[in-house]
Formats: sequence, C-alpha cells, structure tokens
Amino acid sequence: MKYGFFDDINKEYVITTPKTPLPWINYLGSKDFFGIISNTAGGYDFYKDAKLLRLTRYRYNNCPYDSNGRYYYIKDNENVWNPGWQPTQTPLDSYECRHGLGYSTFESSKNNLRAKLTAFVPIKDNVEINKLELTNDSENVKTLDLFSYVEFCLWNAEDDCTNFQRNFSTGEVEIIGSTIYHKTEYRERRNHYAIYHVNHEIDGFDTDRATFTGFYNSPANPDAVNEGISRNSVAHGWSPIGSHHLKVTLQPNESVSFIFLLGYCENKQEEKFEALNVINKAPAKELIAKYSTDEQVDTALKELKDYWNSLLSKFNVETGNEKLNRSVNIWNQYQCMVTFNMSRSASYYESGMGRGMGFRDSSQDLLGFVHLIPSRARERIIDIANTQFEDGSAYHQYQPLTKTGNLNVGSGFNDDPLWLIAGTCAYIKETGDYTILDEECTFNSDSTNKASLFEHLRRSFNYTVTHKGPHGLPLIGRADWNDCLNLNCFSDTPGESFQTTGPSSGPVAESVFIAGLFVKYGKEYVTLCNELGLDEEATACEKEIDTMIEAITTHGWDGKWFIRAFDANSNPVGSHVNEEGQIFIESQGMCVMAEIGLDNGMALDALNSVKEKLDTKYGIMLQQPAYSTYHLELGEISSYPPGYKENAGIFCHNNPWIVCSETIVGHGNRAFELYKKTNPVFLEDIEDIHRTEPYAFCQMVAGKDAPSFGEGKNSWLTGTAAWTFATISQFILGIKPDFKGLRIDPCIPSDWDKYDCVRVFRGKTYNIHVLNPEHVEKGVKSIKVNGTLLSSTIIDPVLGTNTVEVEVVLG
Ligand code: GLC
Ligand code: GLC
Repeated sequence: MKYGFFDDINKEYVITTPKTPLPWINYLGSKDFFGIISNTAGGYDFYKDAKLLRLTRYRYNNCPYDSNGRYYYIKDNENVWNPGWQPTQTPLDSYECRHGLGYSTFESSKNNLRAKLTAFVPIKDNVEINKLELTNDSENVKTLDLFSYVEFCLWNAEDDCTNFQRNFSTGEVEIIGSTIYHKTEYRERRNHYAIYHVNHEIDGFDTDRATFTGFYNSPANPDAVNEGISRNSVAHGWSPIGSHHLKVTLQPNESVSFIFLLGYCENKQEEKFEALNVINKAPAKELIAKYSTDEQVDTALKELKDYWNSLLSKFNVETGNEKLNRSVNIWNQYQCMVTFNMSRSASYYESGMGRGMGFRDSSQDLLGFVHLIPSRARERIIDIANTQFEDGSAYHQYQPLTKTGNLNVGSGFNDDPLWLIAGTCAYIKETGDYTILDEECTFNSDSTNKASLFEHLRRSFNYTVTHKGPHGLPLIGRADWNDCLNLNCFSDTPGESFQTTGPSSGPVAESVFIAGLFVKYGKEYVTLCNELGLDEEATACEKEIDTMIEAITTHGWDGKWFIRAFDANSNPVGSHVNEEGQIFIESQGMCVMAEIGLDNGMALDALNSVKEKLDTKYGIMLQQPAYSTYHLELGEISSYPPGYKENAGIFCHNNPWIVCSETIVGHGNRAFELYKKTNPVFLEDIEDIHRTEPYAFCQMVAGKDAPSFGEGKNSWLTGTAAWTFATISQFILGIKPDFKGLRIDPCIPSDWDKYDCVRVFRGKTYNIHVLNPEHVEKGVKSIKVNGTLLSSTIIDPVLGTNTVEVEVVLG
C-alpha cells in the first residue's frame, strides 16, 4: 500500500493522507538553523544544537505520537481546522503534503477555503519562514479567524523537560506590534532570544499556553480558537507560547498571504539591552525586514531550490531504472546532507538531547557527503580531529555547539580512531587537497596541545597497533562499530549504561571487525605516507597490515566465514561453536571490503555464508541465530528481543558493506539485488509493512525473528545514507574518486545495456557513458577520454577539457 507518490520533476515526495503509518518527516535548514517538520506540520526548531539551543518544544513519545509543531488554526464559522490536519484533526476536504529539498508544503481545503502553507529555512538566515496563503474558492464572502501557534522551549531541551520547579517560574516574553519575543533567561546569561512574527497587523495574541488553550484543554481544542478571541496573555513563567490572531475577510476568489517568521537572534554581550530589561531588537528588525513581502520570500525559496539543483548536478545518473535514478539523484544525496548536518542528534527517534556528533558516525557520513560541499567536509574533519585524545583514542561523541567531547558516553570504542582515516582519505580522494594533512588540530580540544592532522591519523593507526589481544587482533574496548557488543561490560544492574559500565578495555576481548577495518583504512594510510615521502613509515605500516591479515586468516576464520570477536574469556563470538550468534554480518563485510581472502577463497565463502544464513527478502540480518536470552558476557546486543536492532535485526548501515563486497568479487547481479532490498524507494508499495518514509533510509528493519518482520525503524539519521551512496555510486556504477584521479570500474547487473552519468570532480564535468554490449557484470574493456583511448581505469585529473567526454565499454 502507498500513502503518496514521488514527483521527480519537482524533487518532492507527495503525501496524500495525513494518516501515514508513522510521521513522515523532512528537514528544513542547511547550515546553522534547523527545523524538523512532519507531514502534519509537527516538529521543532533549533539553532546549531538540538539540546542546547532549542527554540520550540516537541513531545517525544506522545499520544498521539506526533505532538507539537508550527500550527495554524483556521476558524471558518463553526469549522476549526489546520492545513496540516493536526492538532484539531478536523477532517479535510483535500490534503496534500509535499516534502521537497529543504522545504515542505501543505495544501488542503475545507468548505471551499483553500490553505497553502510553505515552510522553509532560507540559505542565509536563522529563521523558519511559514508562508500561509488562504484562498476563498466559494461564491460568498468569508470572514475568518486565523490563529498561529508555536510553543517555546526554554532553550536547553533537557533542562526544559526535567527542571520544572525552576522552569515554571522563568518564562518571559515581550510583545511589540506583530512580533512576539521569547526572552527567557535573557535577563541573566543568555544573549539570544527567539521571535515569532507575522507581516500583518494583528487582532490579538497569546503568549501563555494555559490561557490560550484553557487549563483543561490542549492545542487540539484551544479555548481562544474555539471562541475566536485571543486573550492577549503575557507569559510570566509557566509555558510561553507564540500565537497571533488575525481576522480575515475574503471576497469570492480572493487570496491573501501571511508570512510568519520563527527566528533566532543574537546580540553582543555589551549590546544586549535597549532599556532596563528590554531586549535589543535590532537583529530582529533586520531579519524581519528581509522577509516581509511575498517577493522576498519567493526569492528566498527559489534560492534554496537553485542551491539544491546545483548541489545535485554534481552527481546525476541516467539508468533505465526510474527508482534507481530517483534514489541516487535526489533522495539518497539529500539524506547524506541531513546526516552530515545532524549526525545522530535530532530526528523523530533521536531526541536531540542524548547524542551529539558521533566520532565514527560523522566520519562515515563524510563518505556520502564530501562530493556535495568539500569545504564543509574539510571543516568537519578538523572539528572531529580536534576532539581526539593524545594517545589516538577518541570521544565517542561531541556536542555540536561547543565542539568538545561529550563525557556522558565517554570513550574507548576502539574502532572510532580508524574512521578518521576513512573520512580524511575520502576528502583527499575527492579534492586532491593534501594540505588538509598539515592543519594543526588540538588533542581533546586543548588549544595548548596541537599537532598536524596527519599526526592525528598516525595516532589513529598506531592506536590499533598498540592495542591488540592474545590472538594479535585489535582489542575491542567498550564496543566497536556494533555499539551493543559490549564484551568487557558484564552488567547485571538494571539501567546501567552498556557503553560506560565496566573497564573501558579488558585485557583480551578482541574484534575481527576492527582488524578488517584496520586493513582497509590502514592501506589508505600507507598511501598517504607514500604521498608525503615517508617511505620507511609506509613500509613499517605495510608490515603491520600484513601481520593483521595473518592474524585474521589464522585466528579470525571459522572455516566458512569470519569470526566476529573473541570475548573476555577468549571464547569466539560468531562461530559455529556458539549456540546462538554463530555468524555476524560486520566481519564478513569489512574483511571482504578490505580485500582479505580474495586469493584463497575465504572472501567467496564468507559471502556465500552470508547468503545462506543471514539473507532475507528485506535485507541481511546482523547475525543468526538471534540471542534468545541475556548474555552477561555480550552486553546490550542480547538485551533486545530477537529480530530487533543489533540482535538479528536487519541493520541497514552494514547491508551496503555486503553489496560493496559482492562488487569486489564481481557479482553485479547479486549486488544490485541486495541494494534494492533495503532501499526505501523500492519499498514504496509495501509501506503498510515498512512504515517509515519511502524517501529516507532507516537504521534498521525488523529481522525474521521479530513478529513485525520487515518493519522499518529509526528513519533518517543512519550511516546507511552515506554507505549506500558510496556503494551505488562508486562500486556498482563504478565512478570512484581515487587519490590519483577518477577511477571507472563498474559492477552492474548483466542485463543493463548502458547508462550515463554526469560527475563533477575536481572542477571538471565528466559526461560518462557506459556501454555493456556483452552483458557482463564487471570488467572494463576500454575507456576513451575525449576520444583518446586510456591505458588504465583511472582518469588523470589533468586530462581533457573542462567538460570531459568519457566512453566506457565493458566486456
Ligand atoms: C547506531 C550508531 C552507530 C553504530 C550502530 C551499530 O547507528 O549511531 O554508531 O555503529 O548503531 O551499533
Ligand atoms: C547504537 C545502537 C543502539 C544503542 C546505542 C547505544 O546506536 O543502535 O541500540 O542503544 O548504540 O549508544
């Protein structure tokens, strides 16, 4: 069953009912100011950091699920309704929500009154713009009351929903004309406030929630709206809101538009006030002046659309498969931007309070983002490196506002350091910019303790070399990529964090996954050493890599697949000797991607075992058989009921590792078949099972052991976005940035005849035409660049004109 459709021309997903299986959301904002918006206009806004600078409140885990947003109430005689259906849930005569790239629109109607709400954050300013157009489609004059509504958060989202003894007494606002200023805590240490403004004279306002709704009512049924009269309440403590009241008269066929602005404003410390306790409104006035007319707002929206068109023009493929084109050209790249911006901080499943930017997460997000805006990728790499510890280990997460390590989750996830090499190398391959390696980065954000980025990478590499266990494999620490494989934790106390309990590193628990990761990205580190003329170091590192490969093939091989780990007692995890958890996906994917076992059959055996034991129609499960009981020695992984999350769920993040591995062994048909299984665009028809947005990857899909097999969970913020984009663009379509240039090496389904791709790379536009006359899965027969035959599969960036014609023949 479907709940909408893709509009590829406008790059939108069109939702045709407000009652989607879950809220289907979109992201507004591209750099500092962000909003989350659902298909019923639910969601919230924040500036830079969803925990520390939250503008509006959202109630997670509520009933109904999606509660609070930017709501507009239209009172047309006795009918009170919202363009986005929520919160009144008044049945609408028509409803349509379009989620586009950085904007969402809602068009609905009731009793011949039409409302169109457009929500977006302009590229240049810290404000969410809501343009609401009302049209009278009836033959009579309509006299309406329009009410707006947002509920302010008292800035620190965590404190806001826990510290009620204080917070019920701190809320403050000012109301001047049509602008509501939310200034809680401004009198003391804050130098920022929020505004909620409308570009019309108002007929009333409310800023106190309980007065607006009535103490026993809710936003679904507010007294002020029902009676058609604002109370002009001025919030003192309790829950400050912003609500405007506008009386509207519309002749038949007449339209009127209202521009609402929800913005963030900041003053210099010494310019905070214009009179005693009266906030300096200069930045607000400046902001309002920029977005007061339809023309200004329409221009800003057009700028946003142009911005996205230009970003997406950097990679555009034309295959015979419409769904593939749509995923690669629009939605997957869009999600890569979202995951780059948010890491794992704010979604409908990440509260914005728990996690900030993940060291490994953000490093991996770069893999799918770096081609879009390399300069922002560069900044991010440096931000991440700045939090690294002197010994090469890493904070697991850091706070986006302060950019310092987050102590709550601590450190000791021993895969973390290596991902910094992955992210940095992706950046260099894309740009050829080796100067990033000279950038001075701090250790643990201490400005008196710095070293070059290259030195940081060296410490990442050496951290693994110096932290090995009895089998010569890397110590796992608190966990590796699988946050839930906690082999040193041994927690028997309810509520203890699996990630911070017990010693951060036991003496023996080892990870075969980190071993594979070390081989894969260690090789890239060696390339950097060679490039910098560090030949001796390169040779020494190669030896370390060989030693690691030896350890993997000797101790990390179970006979038909790679073992996953050795626990704190040196017993294998992910081996046929285990009763449950006999085979895991991660070590198969990472070791084959690292090209381990290509020459001795191990790689092929591992992939066959994955197919035989882990594959399902909805993707590859993380492990099998699922753990049916809690295992003290394994930790969080065994805390989940079978089929969910890391306990044998289909973890979408690592499915592309297997897709990628299949291309490495030349299986284009199998790779593409797997690629489609977790791709939401291909699942649009089974949304009643899948449930999450058909235009965004989710973190996991319930595995076959779960009663809800096939159900997607935790959409949007997942490494799946970056890994899937890297896999489809570089390994299937085979257009792969490499240190020395653009490498072309496709691995495709054999029934494809041809495809075309435009790829902007290091300032040039490559028009790539791939032909497959012999219907092979892999193998490049010839490459011509501007008509000249090439002798390798790498196109040297100095070759050709600014627009380069590339003809590739497979065979
Ligand atoms: C989540 C985390 C990621 C981790 C994965 C597996 O997606 O954000 O860091 O690798 O879970 O546990
Ligand atoms: C990962 C896992 C999740 C776990 C979390 C702990 O995100 O997916 O199950 O709770 O890590 O940080």
